[in-house]
Amino acid sequence: MINNHGVSLTEKPQINLGLEGVYFMESKICKVDGKAGKLYYYGYDIGELAAASNFEEISYLLLYGELPTTKQMKDFSSALAEERNLDDRVINLIKGVPQETNPMHTLSAAMDLIGAYDKSAENTSDNESTSIRIISKIASVVAAIGSIRSSGKYTNPDPKLGHTANFLYMLNGEPKPKEVVKLADTMFLLHAEHSSNASTFSGIVTISTLSDIYSAVVSAINTLKGSLHGGADEAALKMIMSGVGKDPDKYIDGIISSGNRIMGFGHRVYKTYDPRAVIIKEQLKAAIRNTDDRVKKIADTAFMIEEAAIKRTGQKGIWPNVDFFSGPVYSYIGIEPELFTPVFALSRAPGWCSHIVEYLKNNRLIRPTVYYTGETGRPYKEINGR
Ligand SMILES: CC(C)(COP(=O)(O)OP(=O)(O)OC[C@H]1O[C@@H](n2cnc3c(N)ncnc32)[C@H](O)[C@@H]1OP(=O)(O)O)[C@@H](O)C(=O)NCCC(=O)NCCS
Repeated sequence: MINNHGVSLTEKPQINLGLEGVYFMESKICKVDGKAGKLYYYGYDIGELAAASNFEEISYLLLYGELPTTKQMKDFSSALAEERNLDDRVINLIKGVPQETNPMHTLSAAMDLIGAYDKSAENTSDNESTSIRIISKIASVVAAIGSIRSSGKYTNPDPKLGHTANFLYMLNGEPKPKEVVKLADTMFLLHAEHSSNASTFSGIVTISTLSDIYSAVVSAINTLKGSLHGGADEAALKMIMSGVGKDPDKYIDGIISSGNRIMGFGHRVYKTYDPRAVIIKEQLKAAIRNTDDRVKKIADTAFMIEEAAIKRTGQKGIWPNVDFFSGPVYSYIGIEPELFTPVFALSRAPGWCSHIVEYLKNNRLIRPTVYYTGETGRPYKEINGR
């Protein structure tokens, strides 16, 4: 017997655990070439973008599909700057959560609250404007979470600064040097988009029910939190720090023989070196030339662990991913480990919005099928007789 989607109801269907290898839509946004270790945003190679572009420009590219003209770029940057302010209700929410709250929970709650008050988001013919608001405000929320956790203070945004410079200013309460801003901006650009990864897919599932963009982004935030996805950079840094002063080969052997995974290694699509990790490693090497002993020690340990791990896992196609060197770079920038995943979220916001808006243009409710292996027709017994 065949159902109306051509699926046999009598034979066991092919089950793709983790939806591995399942295509669910066409998209022009991003190509991840896992064999060649290449990544393209709307056709532009990530290496070229990292060297020549910036986070604001690629946010425009991801939302509109083309690089902006000078005028379009100026208007887009102004629109981002105009949306940075946070309502007192959002600031109070961030101040009100217990100190030990996972910042990803706070981020999710704050973005949900912003969505609750944003009536203009109901105008789905202007999803790009809502996306700009989300990209702008999520950075302010992450900065507010970081600064309120560390100093109890909220710093108002500075409209004269660019997106990344303003984020670091709000986070630290003072401006950061140009080269640190540039490094953070490149990190944001490298994390901005990665096709149908778990968080993006979760955002798409939410929007497919005709929920709203904020709810879809909140789903994506909550999905990013896990250590197999966005949480891996914090886990990778912890692993690197526990390896300081140890023999790297023995340290890696110990991790693998105890059945654990090397955090920041391996990827569902890349079976070679993740191109983003190549760039981040180079950025880290350049940064530590003029850094203090603490970050240099972490970075040097990361390089040694990387080499030891590749010897063990490279042949199996398990190589460093975007998260392996991100932690040491964020440590250099002065971002606390607990904020790594929220920073990943603010960086991925353009990618999430881009996919959510693209999916809506040709929406179909996402509703896959499970192959039922349980019983049917079990007789119900009253509770006293069980
Ligand atoms: C990202 C990840 C979930 C993708 O893995 P996947 O495609 O689902 O691959 P599987 O979990 O099926 O693993 C396949 C094999 O590689 C091994 N493997 C995968 N990643 C590994 C890692 N980081 N360290 C050690 N072994 C790893 C598995 O143990 C498994 O080995 P086996 O075949 O001998 O059982 C996985 O690589 C991982 O857990 N990495 C660590 C977390 C991380 O860095 N996440 C961020 C991703 S950007």
